[in-house]
Amino acid sequence: MPTAEPPADLSALFEAALRARGHAHAPYSRFPVGAAVRSASGAIHAGCNVENAAYPSGICAETAAIAAMVCAGEREIAQILVLGQTDEPLTPCGACRQRILEFATPHTLIYCSGASGPGPALTMEELLPHAFGPDRLAKDAP
Ligand code: THU
Repeated sequence: MPTAEPPADLSALFEAALRARGHAHAPYSRFPVGAAVRSASGAIHAGCNVENAAYPSGICAETAAIAAMVCAGEREIAQILVLGQTDEPLTPCGACRQRILEFATPHTLIYCSGASGPGPALTMEELLPHAFGPDRLAKDAP
């Protein structure tokens, strides 16, 4: 994983993910996650994982944060920060990589963070190479 230093303006994004993680409902995995999206307008939209007694019905923190962004009327992820509870950077699960891609641009950065601060930035290409995204569907549609 590249180790580019995160820019200073990430502190608001990190704080939002930290607050969201505090609200995680993770009684089954005991693995609370927070995520915060900065959308094109500069607004921040946060989410946490919400597990369910019927395990597959739970949702990831990134999914919740993206849903909050869309619900606020926005469609573009400038940055997304994902935060676990240990120092090791948390990388989004496969399904969330696909969900991020839906609203990503070539400039979108994904900060895979640990408890001590914003982690290294990855591009969408690094996180999900050879992806099937909206552009592909647009190309092949009749
Ligand atoms: N989880 C997330 O919220 N985001 C990820 O990218 C990885 C996994 C959640 C799902 C589940 O509630 C818990 O972490 C353990 O997998």
